[in-house]
Amino acid sequence: MSDSYGDERSQRGEPPPDAPTGTASEITVRPADRADLLDVLRIERTAFSEPWPYAAFESVLDAPAFLVAVGDGVDGPGTVLGYVVGDVMPNHGRDIGHIKDLAVRPNARRKGIGRRLLREALFGLALAGAAVVKLEVREGNQTARSLYREEGFEPTRRVPRYYGDGEDALILVVDVDAWRSEA
Ligand SMILES: CC(C)(COP(=O)(O)OP(=O)(O)OC[C@H]1O[C@@H](n2cnc3c(N)ncnc32)[C@H](O)[C@@H]1OP(=O)(O)O)[C@@H](O)C(=O)NCCC(=O)NCCS
Repeated sequence: MSDSYGDERSQRGEPPPDAPTGTASEITVRPADRADLLDVLRIERTAFSEPWPYAAFESVLDAPAFLVAVGDGVDGPGTVLGYVVGDVMPNHGRDIGHIKDLAVRPNARRKGIGRRLLREALFGLALAGAAVVKLEVREGNQTARSLYREEGFEPTRRVPRYYGDGEDALILVVDVDAWRSEA
């Protein structure tokens, strides 16, 4: 990005391009496509100590809720600011949705983007037939646990040493009909 572009923006009182200030309502959430994957991977690597590899994201491109949030940022108005990956598994007529991944670019956090992505994924999984949705979260990830609790997820069990560094996972579940009636 050229300096002159940055100067123009600051003269107009706008923030630099890498400082998104939009609220979640100024963000677009849409299905991810292959062209988003490098941006998604970059965010993944900043967010997790055990990041998914590129091939893992490639394998979920057709999942019912692999979504990206785009808005103003370092790559212009179409900057990928966050993503969620949600899939559905058949389960004898009571299909189980699974939120497999969720992350927001560090400089775009606390603006409601994570919640928006989570909610849109839950709608997508409901449309795809999920009756319940589960996810795993690190026991110590209070930020994510707070978001999930507020959206109605409840802990069902603990998986000791689920993560490579030995931390336990909590399995959280939400009933989709109950969540929709609250949403
Ligand atoms: C978890 C994460 C996706 C939240 O994204 P976000 O866009 O910052 O979240 P939101 O702005 O939508 O906030 C939603 C809620 O999350 C919780 N939250 C978010 N940031 C928080 C913080 N720094 N401290 C405490 N709670 C926080 C709050 O409950 C918040 O609701 P509130 O604003 O009404 O208080 C983001 O922090 C992230 O990418 N973390 C790293 C990756 C990760 O842990 N993913 C989840 C794996 S299970």
